[in-house]
Amino acid sequence: MNPTLEKLKTKFEQASIAAFGSEFAGADPMLVAASNPKFGDYQSNAALSLSKQLKQPPRAIAEKIVQYIDVSDICEPPTVAGPGFINFTLKPSYLEAQLNDIQADSRLGIAPTKNPQRVIVDFSSPNIAKEMHVGHLRSTIIGDCIARILEFQGHDVLRLNHVGDWGTQFGMLIAYLREVCPSALTTANAVDLGDLVSFYRKAKQRFDEDENFQETARQEVVKLQAGDEDSRRAWQLLCEQSRREFQVIYDLLDVKVIERGESFYNPLLPTVVEDLEKTGLLVEDNGAKCVFLEGFTNKEGEPLPLIVQKSDGGYNYATTDLAALRYRIQQDDADRIIYVTDAGQANHFAQVFQVAKRSGWIPDSLELIHVPFGLVLGEDNKKLKTRSGETVRLKDLLDEALDRARADLEARLKEEERSETEEFIANVGKVIGISGVKYADLSQNRNSNYVFSYDKMLSLQGNTAPYLLYAYARIRSIGRKGNIDFEKLGKDAKILLNEEAELTLAKHLLQVSQVLSNAEQDLLPNRLCEYLYELSKKYNQFFEQCPVLKSEEPVRTSRLILCDLTARTLKLGLSLLGIQVLERM
Ligand code: ARG
Repeated sequence: MNPTLEKLKTKFEQASIAAFGSEFAGADPMLVAASNPKFGDYQSNAALSLSKQLKQPPRAIAEKIVQYIDVSDICEPPTVAGPGFINFTLKPSYLEAQLNDIQADSRLGIAPTKNPQRVIVDFSSPNIAKEMHVGHLRSTIIGDCIARILEFQGHDVLRLNHVGDWGTQFGMLIAYLREVCPSALTTANAVDLGDLVSFYRKAKQRFDEDENFQETARQEVVKLQAGDEDSRRAWQLLCEQSRREFQVIYDLLDVKVIERGESFYNPLLPTVVEDLEKTGLLVEDNGAKCVFLEGFTNKEGEPLPLIVQKSDGGYNYATTDLAALRYRIQQDDADRIIYVTDAGQANHFAQVFQVAKRSGWIPDSLELIHVPFGLVLGEDNKKLKTRSGETVRLKDLLDEALDRARADLEARLKEEERSETEEFIANVGKVIGISGVKYADLSQNRNSNYVFSYDKMLSLQGNTAPYLLYAYARIRSIGRKGNIDFEKLGKDAKILLNEEAELTLAKHLLQVSQVLSNAEQDLLPNRLCEYLYELSKKYNQFFEQCPVLKSEEPVRTSRLILCDLTARTLKLGLSLLGIQVLERM
């Protein structure tokens, strides 16, 4: 929400009534932020659209509106340009007052939402006993950021990890476990299975090679589903081991998410199918139970089915998502459900949403959103792989970022002839490494693929985490140098905006609440990144042009407050991206 825009809209409406009569009370002021600072801060195109109705030339209408509108408390006298645009330029005194208000507010003037919702963010969601790959990294980083923004806006967010912890692959895994480590099934003690991914690979190899083993694996699935104690224990052991591996990543990334995997919904699957049957949507096709979809066709143009129960009686990924959806509506009281997965699953979600809607399971007030994202590419523009062509292990990827960040830091410290404690180096290296990876991901429009480059993401130049962290640390160093207590500073000091660079920075600072309310809707973290990058650049221009510590009062304090507001806005914005700031780096 942008309070300035709201005020201008109200004044515009009053002016339209005064100028053209009460039937123009609802006329759209068509006010937008000006595309070019040359035209001021806001521009209205209303005169052009009213022209037909009023049977007057747009310029005349614009002039009449300008004559009637009273915006003297906010703007300089509005001007008419071109065919009939009305330009508004905010007054420095108005901006000063706004900044004074937000500076006294710990939320920087960002009011929590008036309509708090119960929002579920389904993200990360790796698969047990399989590799957590870069796709899951993207989901984890983007999902966490979205959850942080919604939480800050005042929504009640449930962060859910829909891990793949159920399915026929467990038959194979348990059968293999029985062979190589029979004690794991009978003792209550946890057994260390070592690297689960290679365990999975070996089990799969065994499965592909031996028909008898395939049969055993199938029987294991039946046993597991029937609740056989040994099988359950083996299953739990596998889940536990994976969970530990995932947790290492979550701790490194500082991400919190509640595990509620596919197995959780398992008892609900038969009812999903029964209830679909009742709606009359269910069709039997070659023994499988399915719903024929609208708008999804095969090559021959025939409607595609969404299978919810296979001919062998088994359920699948879609059945589980239907059950999860209903549970989240009925038990979790969700108003909005957000699924963060790669774009490849767009059809899956569109199909599941369609079937749920046609079944009448979705209340009108519920918003279902799939938040897709593109691929992570290597520097060769192909799907990111290790040199030997294997999928990159997340832990290795993060470790490399950490190692490189630390090496860069050590080189820089040497160059600057600084000596720092091991604790400092370890912490700064870690923050830069992790935030570099996160920011590289979040700063791209999530819908597109992006090229993973350690060099770029760890660079102090450009739209990167280190650049923003550095901007923050530099501001904080001014405070240390001047021995400034920012908390006390603002109390009765006044902000004064005289220089162009101060005005530009001030206007940008005042946009933060609009940026966040946009992000709450479009769920595009890159917009927040762009805002913060712009903020750092505008701050740098201000800092180059306007001396801070060396100025005379009252300008000195006013500029210090601008510094502090910039630092606080950066800190808040970065925290919503899941990035911690550094006081020194
Ligand atoms: N486990 C799935 C995968 O790795 C992602 C699950 C996403 N969430 C969902 N409700 N289907 O692809």
